[in-house]
Amino acid sequence: MLELKNLSYCVRNEDGTDLTILNNISLTIEDNKLVVFTGPNGGGKTTLARAIMGLIRPTSGQIFYNGRDITDLGITERARLGICYGFQQPPRFKGMRVRDLLCIAAGNEKLPQSVCCDYLTQVGLCANDYLEREVDTSLSGGEVKRIEIATVLARKGSMLLFDEPEAGIDLWSFARLTETFSALHSKREATMIIISHQERIIGLADEIVVIAGGCIRHRGDRETILPLILSNTTGGCALGKECSIK
Ligand SMILES: Nc1ncnc2c1ncn2[C@@H]1O[C@H](COP(=O)(O)OP(=O)(O)OP(=O)(O)O)[C@@H](O)[C@H]1O
Ligand SMILES: [Mg+2]
Repeated sequence: MLELKNLSYCVRNEDGTDLTILNNISLTIEDNKLVVFTGPNGGGKTTLARAIMGLIRPTSGQIFYNGRDITDLGITERARLGICYGFQQPPRFKGMRVRDLLCIAAGNEKLPQSVCCDYLTQVGLCANDYLEREVDTSLSGGEVKRIEIATVLARKGSMLLFDEPEAGIDLWSFARLTETFSALHSKREATMIIISHQERIIGLADEIVVIAGGCIRHRGDRETILPLILSNTTGGCALGKECSIK
């Protein structure tokens, strides 16, 4: 179980004033649920994911994972606990092959080729075309994104965070990816947090959390929250309008 308690994150503006990006967020996520974070651009979703992953330290508040306070743990220690993150904008690794990345992610330098192929197939990539490719600028944005998702799958973590897995991915591969998330969720072996703006992904959620203006604006099961989102035609403004962020 993941528990966020009164999590806030502030940065100092150049003029010396404080900017609050996350504002007193409290949230509990039960094991093996699929939770979608959604909300308007700039609402704080990626910042929250980065705080959960240990890439930034919250200004105040605490994070508990399976009852343990992990607020002061770094990204490596959190990864060891099984928390894995697929970046919104994945990095490239010049000189590193797709095969190498998958082996590192799986923690097995002799990961069988058939297993590597399976991870790539799950994200709609043909292993023959990609296993020996370098993860450098020669790969397209959508290819790098899908390879990144394959490495998150290879880590076999207990909590998988995907930040806009749909970004830059074509319609056909996106359909394949949605099936992969759905199949993974039905195994109930990991908690999944997916940050997404896509109705197809949101439609997989056990629970939807709408984040806007650094606050949780709405939270509830899919049947309750999805109609609310779909009926909102104000481009997200109404979702954040009552937030008291300063
Ligand atoms: N280090 C920082 N300094 C200043 N502003 C920041 C910093 N980090 C994040 N922000 C701002 O905080 C807000 C939230 O950013 P975040 O990336 O979390 O949004 P998001 O909900 O993931 O948006 P999107 O849907 O566009 O990915 C944005 O307005 C962003 O510009
Ligand atoms: Mg984001």
